[in-house]
Amino acid sequence: MISLDFEALIETVEECNTLYNEGIVSKIIGLTIEAEGIRAFVGEVCKIYNESNKVIECEVVGFKEKNVILMPLGELVGISPGCSVLPTGKQLSVACSEKLFGKVLDGLGKPLGEVKALDGIMYNMNSSPPDPLKRRRIDSIMPTGVRAIDGFLTCGEGQRIGIFAGSGVGKSTTLGMIAREAKADVNVIALIGERGREVRDFIEKDLGEEGMKKSIVVCATSDKPALVRIKGAFTATAIAEYFRDQGKKVILMMDSVTRFAMAQREVGLAIGEPPATKGYTPSVFAMLPKLMERSGMSDKGSITAFYTVLVDGDDFNEPIADAVRGILDGHIVLSRELASKNHYPAIDVLASISRLMSEVADGEHKKAAGIARELLATYKNSEDLINLGAYARGSNKKIDIAINYHENIVNYLKQGIDEKSEFQESVNALEKMFN
Ligand SMILES: Nc1ncnc2c1ncn2[C@@H]1O[C@H](COP(=O)(O)OP(=O)(O)OP(=O)(O)O)[C@@H](O)[C@H]1O
Ligand SMILES: [Mg+2]
Repeated sequence: MISLDFEALIETVEECNTLYNEGIVSKIIGLTIEAEGIRAFVGEVCKIYNESNKVIECEVVGFKEKNVILMPLGELVGISPGCSVLPTGKQLSVACSEKLFGKVLDGLGKPLGEVKALDGIMYNMNSSPPDPLKRRRIDSIMPTGVRAIDGFLTCGEGQRIGIFAGSGVGKSTTLGMIAREAKADVNVIALIGERGREVRDFIEKDLGEEGMKKSIVVCATSDKPALVRIKGAFTATAIAEYFRDQGKKVILMMDSVTRFAMAQREVGLAIGEPPATKGYTPSVFAMLPKLMERSGMSDKGSITAFYTVLVDGDDFNEPIADAVRGILDGHIVLSRELASKNHYPAIDVLASISRLMSEVADGEHKKAAGIARELLATYKNSEDLINLGAYARGSNKKIDIAINYHENIVNYLKQGIDEKSEFQESVNALEKMFN
């Protein structure tokens, strides 16, 4: 006897696309493709069949009169007028599972160098941030293994921090140190718009075998289409969200948000948005909080996030840096001046702030960090005089004390790339300095 599973049958029929929806490519201008004759929604993935019948995936980014504007998630080569366009009815999503550990994925979540796509639970790349009222409050510490951060800029689990620096000052190296030593269950690392050479460097040198075991790297290098670079950031965020939903402590790192913003600017300008400050279009500033609000605490787990911001020409007030600083719960500034003195990690603690340190760190620790900050500030104010030899000891008690402690504080802040420093050790060392 033949038995029929009616429920499965109904489900199949309901999912079945009964409307055949096919259009053609009518125009390509710059990076955008115009298609006529299809109905599609913004964010929908469409397939274009090029001259050699190869599929090029695209995403709907806008409309112009009756035409749909698409942007490719691959190369434009081979597309000609009249190529057929098929909407898929789906948005981009990424397959998430434990199998992702140790993998390097492309911007769309496919493992690099492997033919087969991974399977797992599909997570939408464009999901919404957790409900603000359902987010747990940040009340515990996330040890990073970087003494200057743990001691002076203590981070909370679920906090979102920006790392601001000019080029070549040590952003990637610092991220690598955190990825290796921080006490997280999973690291999700997005390398957006980096040079191709740097990806391998980062994986082999900065992350190392030890770091890679609990990491997932998403990379969309600078040569990839702008849309893929943007998606890389969302792919990594979606993967982090999957692990957060499993109740895990996740660290999400993005290197760099500036390159993400540049990719969005490229897309915005291509679809005709007006340029605003420094050519960045309004959608860039709308997109930044959308991306960064998704990390942080949820009711299940946490995503502690580190976003690097490349500050052009060391201008810390450029528009992206300004916007990001306003969204995040703290910023770590790396200074070229310190790097040039071989002071690594080049964290300028006086210019940096962790907005949650006062809530997560204990009283003794905060007191010691406060004293050290004050001494550093006093020293800095008189540094020129001291270096010139124009300051006579004994003329100001505060400066005398600052000079006495200066070397110890600087030595505390310096840390070799492979030097380990447990959180409690770092705090004890700081407290001991003033006891
Ligand atoms: N903690 C450290 N100890 C010693 N050297 C360091 C440290 N951090 C950075 N450096 C030095 O600074 C150089 C540049 O670092 P890194 O590549 O991390 O900078 P970046 O800010 O990521 O640069 P880019 O803007 O090009 O991405 C490294 O090659 C290394 O020599
Ligand atoms: Mg870098």
